Amino acid sequence: MKVVRTVEELQKELKKVQGKSVGFVPTMGFLHNGHLSLVQECKKQTEVSVVSIFVNPTQFAPGEDFETYPRDEARDLVMLESAGVDMVFLPTVEELYPEGNSTDITVKSTLTKKLCGKTRPTHFDGVTNVVGRFFCIVKPDKAFFGRKDAQQLAIITKLAREMRIGTEVVGCPIVREEDGLALSSRNTYLSTEERQKALSISKALLSVERDVASGRTPEEIKTRVGKEIEQAGGIIDYVEMVNPFTLEDVENLDGDYMVAVAAYFGKTRLLDNRARIGEVCI
Ligand code: PAJ
Repeated sequence: MKVVRTVEELQKELKKVQGKSVGFVPTMGFLHNGHLSLVQECKKQTEVSVVSIFVNPTQFAPGEDFETYPRDEARDLVMLESAGVDMVFLPTVEELYPEGNSTDITVKSTLTKKLCGKTRPTHFDGVTNVVGRFFCIVKPDKAFFGRKDAQQLAIITKLAREMRIGTEVVGCPIVREEDGLALSSRNTYLSTEERQKALSISKALLSVERDVASGRTPEEIKTRVGKEIEQAGGIIDYVEMVNPFTLEDVENLDGDYMVAVAAYFGKTRLLDNRARIGEVCI
């Protein structure tokens, strides 16, 4: 596994494998099995796997957890090595933003303003800025993103399609702990008690299919999910029922839908969702 820290080094390594298909998995590190599932999918679908680890300052607002975001480079590298990754890119802030933030890559769409965009109005501008930069540097054939961050996936898919950068964006299923909690680097912030209470999110989401089958409306479903999480002690940021690709509210539940939740347990904001896409519920 090659570990590189500059764009020049990375592109030199990529040149050596010219002609082979390149897959890319961007991460902020403190890796878990959710990240590794993306790596596995990447290795399945492409010949050369590139993973980035970069805690991107532009996607954190002042007062958010940029400074305290968990980091463990040595452990991450061991995990990626045993997963069989070919290249790991660990740039510094200066390497990725050589002129500061003077050239910005943003998606000007209501996609970035809904759901998480309401509470974190500058977040997705930071995400598209950094992912756009990575796409220009790596020029991957395919890039792999988790459905846990379904809004991020929708926005990046739009960016790749509209910029015609030739990268196919692949969405991968949410990986959970055995008890249902969606894996997240931020789960490390939860106390034992908060973690137990946070299980209410996945539990509430698991009953969505039953709700739909019994003819409940989106309003009724959102209310039930929100109530169950609140009863467990969670503070709801949002519960929305939307189309997983356009993020528009859904009224008719015969087609694709996604119930997306953001809720606080203590100071920790957790995201999760349950979707039906085509015939499958994920
Ligand atoms: P990070 O939170 O580290 O997540 C990196 C990738 O792992 C994202 O595509 C995310 O959706 C996926 N992921 C996280 N938890 C998952 C889970 N439980 N199951 C499946 N996939 C999961 O998302 C980011 O970093 C950043 O915004 C980034 C795209 C790297 C840009 O800075």
